[in-house]
Amino acid sequence: MRLNRLRSALWAFEVEDPNSADSDDEEERAGKTATLQPHPEHGKVHPTLIPVPPSPAPSSEIHLRAYHISALRARLTSVGYTAPALAELFRAPRGYGLPAESLSNPATRMDTDTKILALDTPSNSNLVTLTRFFLIGTSLARSVLEPALTPELLAFCEDQNMVFARDDATKDPILHPLVQLNPVTLPSASTTLFIVTDFSHSSAASVGGAFDPVMHLGMDSLALVGSLSRLTSDLHLLADRAASENRPLRALDLCTGSGIQGLTAAALLREQQIQGGAGVETTLVDTNPRAGRLAAFNSSLNGLHVAVHIGDGYTPLPVGVKYDLILANPPYIPTGGSAVRLEAYGDGGAKGDDVMAAVFRGLQSRLVDGGMVCVVGNIVNPEQFAENVTSWVGNDVGLNGTLKYGRVWTVDEYSALIVGKEDPDYANALRQSGVQGVANGLFVGKKVAQRDVSVVRGTDELWHEMNLVEGEKA
Ligand SMILES: C[S@@+](CC[C@H](N)C(=O)[O-])C[C@H]1O[C@@H](n2cnc3c(N)ncnc32)[C@H](O)[C@@H]1O
Repeated sequence: MRLNRLRSALWAFEVEDPNSADSDDEEERAGKTATLQPHPEHGKVHPTLIPVPPSPAPSSEIHLRAYHISALRARLTSVGYTAPALAELFRAPRGYGLPAESLSNPATRMDTDTKILALDTPSNSNLVTLTRFFLIGTSLARSVLEPALTPELLAFCEDQNMVFARDDATKDPILHPLVQLNPVTLPSASTTLFIVTDFSHSSAASVGGAFDPVMHLGMDSLALVGSLSRLTSDLHLLADRAASENRPLRALDLCTGSGIQGLTAAALLREQQIQGGAGVETTLVDTNPRAGRLAAFNSSLNGLHVAVHIGDGYTPLPVGVKYDLILANPPYIPTGGSAVRLEAYGDGGAKGDDVMAAVFRGLQSRLVDGGMVCVVGNIVNPEQFAENVTSWVGNDVGLNGTLKYGRVWTVDEYSALIVGKEDPDYANALRQSGVQGVANGLFVGKKVAQRDVSVVRGTDELWHEMNLVEGEKA
């Protein structure tokens, strides 16, 4: 989300460009890069990305698509498109994932690209090219991208509307990435997930309202991934219980967007061989149909089997089914009832807790006793969080958990952060709706008999630190 702007300062690349003095040589650059052009998403309605395959598709088509998706995964793996490899390239500490928003920020993208291009060597050339295109968002000539991706996979990506050629009539057209491709690597480093999202600068307005964009991987997304990765001993306990009840271990990702949380859970459980009596069932839910499509694509891209539902919160789920693990990164930016314009994935209603409250309310009927819940979000007046939980779930649901929160922004700081500049109307509306301060937060809890919710002030850069693999220093 936009708040990552602040976080991203931490990721300002300290990459030294050995050729910086002469890296302005446009001619030399062009040979390698074609050009750095304005992104085609601005002011343009582009085609539906990653379309649902026509239904019913002939089985040969389905097989061909499955073949290409696994070939794409194999290609990304073989060029080393992993979070640790990219952290090394960017000379950044190793995290589960990378700060997608700052890497592709149109204001600094060209600079980022120049630095990465300067690190291109014969041994990492394909990795550099794919990073420039799919992560930084640099437009490249077909002759540059094709060898890195292979002609067959480039054709597949074009067919899936992941790649777009503005003018295909030219001999060597410029290709534009229409989606961002993020590597997320589990702590073991033996599993990397490839997660397709929209770019953070793709707004509903920039695509003419044709669709609601699917959120990029923000520091909130990565903090929740980090928190999940630290829960393995609890997951083992939950799996033992599910095994003793002869049922699958069930994980639920509400507000799934790209599917990042549910897919990480599925991959982690598979990697650690954690399962219930009848394996693992992972379910992803989102209101945004495009999120459903991207999440389904991402599940195939990572060879994972999950159920994807389009709908509001718990509503589309089968009646009576309870989950052992519930993960949620709901829309959480408070509007204060003002006219501030937010992407749908960020708009949390007047107090920012419309969807978060619904997630908590559903724990009574949807979380098994002893089950775990992890929720990330901006928390308004974080000191009052325990009272809010009571107002959301009543006194009947026992939860033992902790909200950790980072630096608390004043209303003026927060409103400027969200809007990108001072916005007195928005700030006043927040104040009038009772907002005194807002912080990045992360709640981890277990459903137990008694309520015991504590609130703890963590480090300022809570989300950033949660993303770091244990042992790494910021
Ligand atoms: C902050 S994004 C999180 C995306 C992703 N889980 C992540 O961590 O990067 C919030 C997502 O919640 C979805 N959403 C909003 N309201 C919802 C609701 N009532 N039920 C389910 N999903 C909802 C939005 O479409 C959006 O994809």
